[in-house]
Amino acid sequence: MEILENFIVFEGLDGAGTTTQARLLSEAMQKRSLSTHLTCEPTDHEIGKLIRRVLSGETKITRKALAMLYAADRDDHIFGKDGIKAQLVDNDYVISDRYLFSSEAYQSIDTPFEEVAELNKRFPMPQYLIYIDTPVDHCMKRIESSRNSKDIFEHTQFQLSVYENYNTALSNLCDGIKLIRIDGTLSIEEIHMQILAEIL
Ligand code: TYD
Repeated sequence: MEILENFIVFEGLDGAGTTTQARLLSEAMQKRSLSTHLTCEPTDHEIGKLIRRVLSGETKITRKALAMLYAADRDDHIFGKDGIKAQLVDNDYVISDRYLFSSEAYQSIDTPFEEVAELNKRFPMPQYLIYIDTPVDHCMKRIESSRNSKDIFEHTQFQLSVYENYNTALSNLCDGIKLIRIDGTLSIEEIHMQILAEIL
């Protein structure tokens, strides 16, 4: 399994705080004169936009088709022009808010795990996987107070299954990935400091 040096991935439930922490890490690295490329999945390219229309409920497709779209978006994200591999040549670090572990945690609820794994087996792994471990009730409170509408995955019952699937996925990581598991109930600043202490 290929491991991409200096590729950092953030994972967690919806509302866990991955977006905030990915941004803070990127800013802290830049202050230390390290160049970073901050990115996310779903991407903001065409396939990612289509995924967001499905998540909002505007477009309806099968869950297997959605799993394929996430994998297609990821293929382009990794191997495409200006993708993660190219960015790793030009930058000290690439930081992604979500990656294939999200597919393992979310898509394997409605699609058999082996099928999700098959769709994602070609992708290289990150050197660092930062999992922000935030309980479902915390996440749901944050989602409810910060958004007017919820996407198709943002419901307690579904997130409980996502939480379990993350635990399964994280206990079966391939060798060479450094897993950094952080207590997501800590303050934004405390989480950020713990991440910095692990990486820099
Ligand atoms: P999210 O990071 O929450 O985007 P935003 O901040 O714009 O809401 O990602 C959108 C949703 O997509 C989120 O519920 C997680 C889900 N997702 C998957 O189900 N599978 C995947 O492979 C990825 C990358 C995300």
